[in-house]
Amino acid sequence: MNLKELVNPRIFDVPDYDQAHVTKCWQDPSIHRQMSNESNYAPIPAVQEAIRNVAGQANFYAEDPAYAASLRGKLAEYASVKPENVALGNGSIEVLDLIFQIFMAKPGVDEGILLQPDYSAYTPRMKYFGWNIKYAPCADGMDSAAKQVIQLISPNTKFILLSRPNNPMGTVMPEAEIRRMLDTGVVVIVDEAYIEMADEGTSVSAWVNDYENLIVLRTFSKGFCLAGIRLGYMLATPELIRYINRSRHIFNVNLAAMAAGEAAMDHLDEYRAIFKKLAQTRDWLTEELATIPGFKPIPSQGNFVMINVKETGKQASEFVKYLLGKGFMVRDFSKKAGLEPNTHFRISVGLPDEMKELVEDLRSFA
Ligand SMILES: Cc1ncc(COP(=O)(O)O)c(C=O)c1O
Repeated sequence: MNLKELVNPRIFDVPDYDQAHVTKCWQDPSIHRQMSNESNYAPIPAVQEAIRNVAGQANFYAEDPAYAASLRGKLAEYASVKPENVALGNGSIEVLDLIFQIFMAKPGVDEGILLQPDYSAYTPRMKYFGWNIKYAPCADGMDSAAKQVIQLISPNTKFILLSRPNNPMGTVMPEAEIRRMLDTGVVVIVDEAYIEMADEGTSVSAWVNDYENLIVLRTFSKGFCLAGIRLGYMLATPELIRYINRSRHIFNVNLAAMAAGEAAMDHLDEYRAIFKKLAQTRDWLTEELATIPGFKPIPSQGNFVMINVKETGKQASEFVKYLLGKGFMVRDFSKKAGLEPNTHFRISVGLPDEMKELVEDLRSFA
């Protein structure tokens, strides 16, 4: 058997997953996980209890996510849309894959536009499905992002995808820029993975009621402290929601994820306290980092802070390596497309005491 002849050639262009850093953290629980923008807060007790409560019913299939009226209803209320605007996924990354799949009609021809830099998973997943990708630079800020994006639109362009707040920069594209892109009529996918930590009123989810070409993605992995449970959702026009539901696996969202999501929605006040704490710790961290000679932290609306260390005279990877020696796994952006090489690393915001220790460690090294 020659697998190379059997397998779709697009597989050969996709790199193997490199998640060794996550495995390292599971193998050594003493490492502080500041690398993947998870939460270092555990899920609230009511959510943990909801997960335990369904353990004894795990012999049954969960409700099909196209129905799941109770959870979809609560999410719709939370996001200021209607239940028919909501589709559930096994993390928001699954929902993205479904979008990439259902819009793809002509592999190698159909185009999507991304910002650069943006979330690192977008490019490999789009390549996997045969998308041509065009990149609009945004490292210097978001104020003219729409102009950069709009000049890339061609007859083959099917969507524009961006995270807002942007991962890894933490910046938020102004509303006017999003509207300019929506007004072109091209589908705009706004990934709001970090919206819970952004200033109130930042979300564009309610615009789904007005714009047929807007898709908003959300996740429970960040502010809701549930990365391991795999629950995400998308908000869009009911017709698109129907196509997404046709394309996914029948039981893509498991029983524990649904129970966790509902319990989280039932205890939003407790979660809002966590969102606030994360945002406060982030702002404290940003201020402290700015006092370290040569450090240029970028003001962030997410649960992470990106730092430009060019002026320290050291390379970003030196800080990353040093911090690992101190028990903190942070993310190296030395080779990130769209950023000057060797200049940036990113810290996911943890608990206040962890961040104090991390800042002290950095001070003694910088
Ligand atoms: C912008 C963005 N979107 C989506 C995800 C993945 O979310 P999920 O865990 O829901 O698949 C991440 C995770 O880092 C992210 O940064």
